[in-house]
Amino acid sequence: MAKYIGILSGKGGVGKSTTAINLASALNYFDKDVTVVDGNLSTPNIGLYLGVPIVPINLHHVLRGEHHIFDSVYLHPAGMKIVPAGISIHDLKTCVPENMPPALAKLNNTSDFIIVDGAAGLGKEAFATIGSSEEIIVVTNPELPAITDAAKTVKICEELGKPVIGIVLTRTSPKNLDVSVNNIETIIEKPVIGIIPEDKAVRHSLVRKDAVVYTYPNSKAAIGYKRLAANILGQHYEPEVIRKEGWLFNVLKKLGI
Ligand SMILES: Nc1ncnc2c1ncn2[C@@H]1O[C@H](COP(=O)(O)OP(=O)(O)O)[C@@H](O)[C@H]1O
Ligand SMILES: [Mg+2]
Repeated sequence: MAKYIGILSGKGGVGKSTTAINLASALNYFDKDVTVVDGNLSTPNIGLYLGVPIVPINLHHVLRGEHHIFDSVYLHPAGMKIVPAGISIHDLKTCVPENMPPALAKLNNTSDFIIVDGAAGLGKEAFATIGSSEEIIVVTNPELPAITDAAKTVKICEELGKPVIGIVLTRTSPKNLDVSVNNIETIIEKPVIGIIPEDKAVRHSLVRKDAVVYTYPNSKAAIGYKRLAANILGQHYEPEVIRKEGWLFNVLKKLGI
């Protein structure tokens, strides 16, 4: 039986897709079998982010009733499975988001976790993600417009009977933490279960079309996502201590001293 987790935010561009991909990769690091579904049906980017923009059968084919959901699952080299959405205008025009929950329900015995990357806003697509998920994670940046939208998203999810397990705070830096974590928890009335710092490695991983957890496992963002995954699994996680040896150490080591 898979656990279905939807990733939503309200505001766009806060780091939902990055979180969906990297939470999946981090759960995979803890030996979990994970499928990431691109539930952002009008502007999908999971496939683009992971280097598989065009596949023969995608989620839109499934939602149009042309294929079984199993035909749209692809194994990514990073270890997770992905269900990309179609990027064409035809896909956009013919899409029925309401078909997503019953289609995704069929993945139930195929993974430990199904992570659904949601769309921004609180329209039909976001509702399809809520309808497909058992639990929701709300992503926000530490800025008031994003926090306000996150609070609204939490309320809607809970009205629909979908518990929000917590907030993931992304792109934090010493400069932008103008709203403290405590204040964010008070405003949204949910615990912050993950903090992902602003990290150049995220952009570098995008260039490599892969998860930052997989490509830069010791980066600050990767460690943040592994902490989040450990939190969700109720496991303890200590990042490896990377020793940076100086040139003298390396010379002595080569000399066997
Ligand atoms: N921790 C981070 N550090 C730096 N850049 C990030 C981080 N998280 C996300 N980004 C960047 O922010 C932009 C928006 O992220 P994305 O995941 O696409 O947001 P959303 O899915 O909410 O629209 C992307 O360019 C992404 O690379
Ligand atoms: Mg996105």
